[in-house]
Amino acid sequence: MCGTLRASDAGKKAVLMGWVNKRRDHGSLLFVDLRDRSGVTQVVVNADRNAAIHEKAETLRNEYVIAAIGSVKLREVNTVNPNMPTGEVELVADDIRILNESKLPPFLPSDTALTNEETRLKYRYIDLRRDAMQFNIETRHNVAKAIRDYLSAQGFFEIETPFMTRSTPEGARDYLVPSRVQPGTFYALPQSPQMFKQILMISGFDRYFQIVRCFRDEDLRADRQPEFTQIDLEMTYPQPESVWGVVEGFLQAAFKAAGEQIDTSFPRMDYDEAIRQYGIDKPDLRIPPFTDVQECFTAGNLQELAINPNLPVIAIRIPKVGELSRKERDDIKPMFHSKGGARVYEDFKRIGNKYPEAAAAISKKSGMEEGDLIVLVAGSAQAGPQTALPAHRKVTPAELAIYASAGLLRLALAQKYADRHGIFKKTGDPMKDYRFLWVTNFPMFEWDEGEKQWMAAHHPFTSPHEQDMGLLEQGVDSVNDPQSTLSAVRALAYDVVLNGTELGSGSIRIHRQDIQAKIFKALGMTDEEARKRFGFFLEALEYGTPPHGGIALGLDRIVMILAGAESLREVIPFPKTARAVDLMVDAPTPVDERQLRDLGISIKKPS
Ligand code: AMO
Repeated sequence: MCGTLRASDAGKKAVLMGWVNKRRDHGSLLFVDLRDRSGVTQVVVNADRNAAIHEKAETLRNEYVIAAIGSVKLREVNTVNPNMPTGEVELVADDIRILNESKLPPFLPSDTALTNEETRLKYRYIDLRRDAMQFNIETRHNVAKAIRDYLSAQGFFEIETPFMTRSTPEGARDYLVPSRVQPGTFYALPQSPQMFKQILMISGFDRYFQIVRCFRDEDLRADRQPEFTQIDLEMTYPQPESVWGVVEGFLQAAFKAAGEQIDTSFPRMDYDEAIRQYGIDKPDLRIPPFTDVQECFTAGNLQELAINPNLPVIAIRIPKVGELSRKERDDIKPMFHSKGGARVYEDFKRIGNKYPEAAAAISKKSGMEEGDLIVLVAGSAQAGPQTALPAHRKVTPAELAIYASAGLLRLALAQKYADRHGIFKKTGDPMKDYRFLWVTNFPMFEWDEGEKQWMAAHHPFTSPHEQDMGLLEQGVDSVNDPQSTLSAVRALAYDVVLNGTELGSGSIRIHRQDIQAKIFKALGMTDEEARKRFGFFLEALEYGTPPHGGIALGLDRIVMILAGAESLREVIPFPKTARAVDLMVDAPTPVDERQLRDLGISIKKPS
């Protein structure tokens, strides 16, 4: 192959086939860089040795596919290229065969500047020839294989589950497939194999995994695609720790396959703690947590600053930012988006001038060092009274508003200022800092203000905490009340987070039909509705369901981080745009009238 010849091959005959990466004419000598997925070798065509071949070589253009037949020769010392693995040798051609020509591509795989993404996606086959994409797709293969091997060795069976199925609630809209044989009915593509994997536990398979495509019609972002791949697993009789051990093991194997070393035994943090320390349920541990510095102010200070004394005062510290200009300081305020009642005090210096004692105490408490940036977020004095703390929940809604606003600002500040020091640089030592974290004890339910009802924070098959069953019992009769005890029910759910990205989510499941029915009720479903949507599943739970639990991780997200990429599109061979379009095949498209007729579907013209 084009990347394999070395000095030790000198003197051998070789045939190389690949694409013309570049052609250089030097009078009677013509050089062709020949490329395949393994690399590039320089082929030399000498007019003095073979005029006919030289003439043919002169017709070669970029991306022609050729075979070069010749002998391997050591390069002259002064022409050795130390930057190429094949840089010590060249292939002296005795013959060149043109296997196929190429039109002039809209961009070249060897171009150093990237063309616009639309063109890259339309001509994806050219784009995929680029080194970076070849590397990403190879990494993806290596990572998936390592995970498959690891899980197989741990006794997990890879079992396929249907794509043409019925709706699985994971919080997005379904992609639907109309049935021809039963007009007016639809399959749903799975948002995840959730119910099937639970049924596999009921079916006696004990340990299941699948590297599986999932489909979700949701708003797309850099880390979301409408079809994406999960590493999905489920096991019987687990503690959360049993699931975590398996995940840490396969992540270590996956990172190793990509040339990275990570330690297992990831740290763990309660959801409430994550909110209090980072204002988000997927903390990026590469930047320091918040400090509540309310106690550093006197009651008089707080009053003068119009700060609510009943709410936390958050100091966000971004290390080693250096002196900010006046303009940079002014830029902070527009970066702040209040989630309700929260205010930002961006000029710590000014506070320092006016309240030197408070400022000194804040510096000390937050661990401030020379050059660190401190920004304060606090509740405005006009904010309404605090709602009472629900049992078990350490963060009240009013506090949550402060923490969440501060959490978003912390990330925005870090993106803007910490990057000066490469904290967010994805590749290259020493900043390749993989900070994993398990976030646990999520709330079971979230109040949906629009729908005026409780929603499952993870999905409705997640088990509530043993200790919170009473709160569930109590709350299930007041399902339209945002103050209901449902707000205090914790779930046996967990997320694995890496550097601020949610890699995966899972939970211990409900294995008793009566509890499952209660959860559906809490989610505002009548018995009849629950039976209609999930009857098969509720029934299955009644036939000896063992306790079980599992998790699913996003393969695309793991590879994205390993590849140092900014978007999932860089690690998915044929991705979709933010408008869920495949630009290469041009999908989705309208279909024939006849196809619609067969399906019993008519299209209403948009008004
Ligand atoms: P969840 O919905 O949290 O859990 O998904 C698990 C993981 O899948 C990845 N992911 C996505 N990746 C790319 N594009 C998307 N649109 C997208 N949506 C999700 C994320 C996420 O952490 N059935 C449960 C798992 C379980 O309980 O076992 C589930 O699907 O990395």
